[in-house]
Amino acid sequence: MNKQYNVSSSCLSALLLILSVYSLNAQAVEPTGVSQESLANYTPVLSADFKVLLKTADAAAGEEMFMRKCSSCHDNFKSETHGKGPNLWNVFGRKAGTSEGFEYSDAMRQSGHTWGYATLNYYLTRTDRAVPGRIMNFRGIRQDAYRARLLRFLRTMNDQPPPLP
Ligand code: HEC
Repeated sequence: MNKQYNVSSSCLSALLLILSVYSLNAQAVEPTGVSQESLANYTPVLSADFKVLLKTADAAAGEEMFMRKCSSCHDNFKSETHGKGPNLWNVFGRKAGTSEGFEYSDAMRQSGHTWGYATLNYYLTRTDRAVPGRIMNFRGIRQDAYRARLLRFLRTMNDQPPPLP
């Protein structure tokens, strides 16, 4: 009697194990149910309107914004050290999640993109949608005009600022 009970309880644990592995797997595929929109599966493009905004956006206003919204975690100058977030010098042209010495989330390391205007713009619009599972505790900037300013400033944080698109 006792033995029978043991057998069925171990069957039950095996079943539970299978179920939990299965649900973990399902989570890995669709962490927040928006994986079609994550940078791992989607290549954003810049709209013509946004390119126009970028041309006229004010980098100095972007720097001010950076100081208010980003500098608690990221340096605003040439630096190889990290704060709560990785340093952002030369972030244009960097493969996401690869600055030496920073412990990125798996989600960021596996997003598979190189940062440029389109990917940074998309990420900074809604970071949780672009990289579900990211550990950057900042949701995003919804207004195009503000993001354009910020990108104009980020572009200057580079040994060779990339040409405007
Ligand atoms: C609360 C801290 C925090 C704030 C505020 C923050 N970040 Fe981050 N940022 C992080 C962390 C942590 C990561 C690493 C994310 C990961 O690994 O998932 C990151 C990653 C990034 C990356 C990817 C860098 C790489 O090497 O791939 C960019 C770009 C970025 N942040 C830009 C910004 C900008 C621009 C702002 C301001 C609008 C900002 N962040 C605000 C903490 C922050």
